[in-house]
Amino acid sequence: MHAIVYQGPGGPRLEERPQPQLQQATDAIVRLLKTTICGTDLHILKGDVPTCEPGRVLGHEGVGIVESVGSGVSRFKPGDRVLISCITACGRCDYCKKGMYSHCADGGWILGHRIDGTQAEYVRIPHADGSLHALPPGIPDEAMVMLSDILPTGYECGVLNGQVSPGDVVAIIGAGPVGLAALLTAQFYAPAEIVVIDLDDHRLAVARQFGATRVLNSGRDNVAGELHSLTGGRGVDVAIEAVGVPATFSLCEQIIGAGGHIAVLGVHGVKVDLHLETLWSHNITLRTGLVDTFTTPQLLKMVQAGKLDPQQMITHRFAFAEALQAYEVFGQAADSQALKVILEM
Ligand SMILES: NC(=O)c1ccc[n+]([C@@H]2O[C@H](COP(=O)([O-])OP(=O)(O)OC[C@H]3O[C@@H](n4cnc5c(N)ncnc54)[C@H](O)[C@@H]3O)[C@@H](O)[C@H]2O)c1
Ligand SMILES: [Zn+2]
Ligand SMILES: [Zn+2]
Repeated sequence: MHAIVYQGPGGPRLEERPQPQLQQATDAIVRLLKTTICGTDLHILKGDVPTCEPGRVLGHEGVGIVESVGSGVSRFKPGDRVLISCITACGRCDYCKKGMYSHCADGGWILGHRIDGTQAEYVRIPHADGSLHALPPGIPDEAMVMLSDILPTGYECGVLNGQVSPGDVVAIIGAGPVGLAALLTAQFYAPAEIVVIDLDDHRLAVARQFGATRVLNSGRDNVAGELHSLTGGRGVDVAIEAVGVPATFSLCEQIIGAGGHIAVLGVHGVKVDLHLETLWSHNITLRTGLVDTFTTPQLLKMVQAGKLDPQQMITHRFAFAEALQAYEVFGQAADSQALKVILEM
């Protein structure tokens, strides 16, 4: 089969690889229909994720058709159309029992990281019963791919950790796919204002289309001053950090109001300053976390009900044979205006 393989820092390679085989009774083999590239794949290619070793098939998102299952798989059978979760969950360990699937003792984020992933014609899914979801009929496959990772990430780590509530003023810093996923799902809770902040005017225009009530360019606008005026000096109720650099965490600390919630979903590579000399008395909460994907069934229902349209995140489509070109387009998002790119098998 064809697969996109990490070969150490640099570009990935399209290689011929043997098809994966069932290894455990709880495994399934899935034939991919559609997959995509994540910002995290770009982090791996830069060498930022040392736990991902050269030779690894990349990818942790996708939809496909079950090809075969082990004797211990009870919820799926060959021929079923499935959504692959970016998080593998055994369903039995202490963390899984708490819904913290990202910390599963025999899973978590392993696909395209510690084991071969979904940017291939076939993938082996461990703990298939806990790691796959049946696809509802009538929804385009490519829309469903957005539920493997980015929508649950924006929703769980941004909106739910930030406790977005009716009437709130919410600031989302970063209008990449993950920040935009937080923007779409924050609207479930009817906040009064959702202000999206980025450096890229195109992405800010997209944020407007996706429901932002205001947008600010932090390269040009005085974001803290504008939000101060907007809230009568109180500060925002929720600040969602979806970039992952010290400057954007610092901005959250400047704009958060008393009793507010800061939800960090950006992956941070260096330390940040925590200004307790001002925040200690402000009753704020700070939440961090990896996506658990415990909300995937809920998000599937919202898509089915027509209350969430994931397809609008897709800007480019490529045949799998053009995967390296897709990586280039996705890697130069500022020029190509790419959000999510679909790879079709
Ligand atoms: N917590 C999790 O489980 C989880 C899961 C997936 C992704 N992530 C992380 O979420 C973050 C966002 O992911 P993405 O795919 O949307 O990334 P992205 O790179 O596509 O988007 C980041 C956005 O931030 C903007 N930006 C950069 N510097 C800025 C600054 N100083 N001020 C304002 N905006 C700035 C960029 O213009 C871009 O639009 C990344 O750090 C990613 O690794 C976390
Ligand atoms: Zn991802
Ligand atoms: Zn587990």
